[in-house]
Amino acid sequence: MTDPTSKEPGGAPPTAFLDVRDLRVHFPTDDGLVKSVDGLSFSLERGRTLGIVGESGSGKSVTSLAVMGLHRVTSGRRSNARLSGEIWLDGRELLAASPEEVRRLRGRQMAMIFQDPLTSMHPYYTIGGQIIEAYRVHHDVDKKTARKRAVEMLDRVGIPEPHRRVDDYPHEFSGGMRQRAMIAMALVNNPELLIADEPTTALDVTVQAQILDLIRDLQKEFGSAVIIITHDLGVVAELADDLLVMYGGRCVERGPAERVFEEPGHPYTWGLLGSMPRIDRDQTDRLIPVKGQPPSLINIPDGCAFNPRCPYADVPKDNLTRTVVPELREVDAGHYSACHMAAEDRARIWTEEIAPKL
Ligand SMILES: Nc1ncnc2c1ncn2[C@@H]1O[C@H](COP(=O)(O)OP(=O)(O)OP(=O)(O)O)[C@@H](O)[C@H]1O
Ligand code: SF4
Ligand SMILES: [Mg+2]
Repeated sequence: MTDPTSKEPGGAPPTAFLDVRDLRVHFPTDDGLVKSVDGLSFSLERGRTLGIVGESGSGKSVTSLAVMGLHRVTSGRRSNARLSGEIWLDGRELLAASPEEVRRLRGRQMAMIFQDPLTSMHPYYTIGGQIIEAYRVHHDVDKKTARKRAVEMLDRVGIPEPHRRVDDYPHEFSGGMRQRAMIAMALVNNPELLIADEPTTALDVTVQAQILDLIRDLQKEFGSAVIIITHDLGVVAELADDLLVMYGGRCVERGPAERVFEEPGHPYTWGLLGSMPRIDRDQTDRLIPVKGQPPSLINIPDGCAFNPRCPYADVPKDNLTRTVVPELREVDAGHYSACHMAAEDRARIWTEEIAPKL
């Protein structure tokens, strides 16, 4: 069975809370057209967490900026992004919506924790001032009420002495505190969709764990839908209900997180799992992480984009791997993989060669 969510755009509005259909984000450049996201489909319900993983440059941030409607204006200038497909949020299609409508939704219905905290924090305004502003855009309240809310949020994210630190400037906060403050700002309006793009990359391990706990607690409390983007599979192993693996701007595997971890169906995911640090194993017994470089997004390899790096590229018959783009196919209930390998070859390689080394 092929993937039921990769429907063509133009169909009936979806019932899922977030439904992304055949999303493409391309950037014309002097060197050619960069296909950062090229036909991505997924859906997400309220109260669920989707983990998006993939190596650097696979299109994770570009996807989240598209959902947030932020490709229209980037760095104060018009972006040259070309977008197509559909992004449905709670029954509303966002790609065709007016910039005003998307702006109204941003902050209130959907919010994002950015990869780089300095992107969303202004250096010249106090932390509190910025949270107050974010709150007042969507709530008709006086400054005093909004300030109370800002202090409360800083307290929630574990900033010590929040009533005092609310008047600090971003540079007076440590990296971990800035990240927390950004989370406070993202959550001040109880968004129904939260996208956290590498929320813990720059932080030390203890703070990482605290931030992830915090996202989990807040999600439980508000029943939000959460997308966590990371190249660290350890992060999503803890948090995600579902997993989507991206390679070269496309989804190569998707399914319930425990199934993807237990029996991944794509050679690229095997490599990702093999490169996950393990304390209980000697590195020399382990699989070698995915060798080679990510594909050029201007000249994506023909057939399966992963074929130049795939140790099993010759397993599927008729050179399919190098000539035909593999579609997502169901490998077990609700679990899809885009690989030409026959089920019996996949099962054999997984059980005999891969699983024993993980
Ligand atoms: N405005 C732009 N113009 C041209 N190319 C772009 C633009 N924005 C992003 N890209 C390219 O799109 C690709 C995907 O970028 P993206 O930031 O989504 O990667 P990522 O998966 O988030 O990686 P990382 O893990 O490093 O954050 C990259 O090759 C990037 O160079
Ligand atoms: S389609 Fe071929 S190259 Fe792509 S992952 Fe499967 S075996 Fe490897
Ligand atoms: Mg990124």
